[in-house]
Amino acid sequence: MDNKEFWDKVWSTHSPSGGIPWDIKKEDDNLRDCLNNIPIKKDKALELGCGTGYDSAFLRDQGFKVTAIDVSEYIINVCKRNHKNIDFLVMDISKELPKDSFDLIYDRGCIHNNKDNIKQSLKNIKDCLNKDGYFIMISGGEEDSEYPRPEKFYIFDFLNDIRNLFEIVLIKKINFDLTEDNGQFPGWLFVLKNA
Ligand SMILES: C[S@@+](CC[C@H](N)C(=O)[O-])C[C@H]1O[C@@H](n2cnc3c(N)ncnc32)[C@H](O)[C@@H]1O
Repeated sequence: MDNKEFWDKVWSTHSPSGGIPWDIKKEDDNLRDCLNNIPIKKDKALELGCGTGYDSAFLRDQGFKVTAIDVSEYIINVCKRNHKNIDFLVMDISKELPKDSFDLIYDRGCIHNNKDNIKQSLKNIKDCLNKDGYFIMISGGEEDSEYPRPEKFYIFDFLNDIRNLFEIVLIKKINFDLTEDNGQFPGWLFVLKNA
């Protein structure tokens, strides 16, 4: 099963109205804190692996013009029905990114599911980030073994690649908010700048 088939199956076999632990149907608190504390220009934003699209909707409501991509056509169609004034596209981050430049690129849980081509993906992200633009990445920790993934890895294995491409503004241990009854999911918040 390829990555697209895997994620179409994940999304289509769960009701989009519930049942997926990370799908909290609201913005991530860490994203809100970043917008409150970091001088990010509120112009163009790109979300990678947007899932059901609630972080993108939050960014739109904060004044960004938002493009949101996901490899799953199934979930992109759900997003198009649920959220207006966002440019939703079916796209695989390991292959391409929109031909535009952004002030903010945001990822919650997409990169950490894409070990193959991660170096190329990081480079592609840098290439479509404006100078002084920010890349905010929320990634799982190595302790999150109970959650299945296409291929498990630890984001710190790529710290040197990250350092070579971006200025590190913040790396912070966090907990992903999960849906009720699913506890918390250990992870890391990276705030990176295209200096
Ligand atoms: C763990 S979910 C997170 C979804 C959403 N960001 C959230 O926090 O609720 C990972 C998302 O990334 C998408 N995804 C996985 N690999 C991808 C890829 N190579 N390119 C684009 N999207 C991908 C999946 O379809 C899924 O929606």
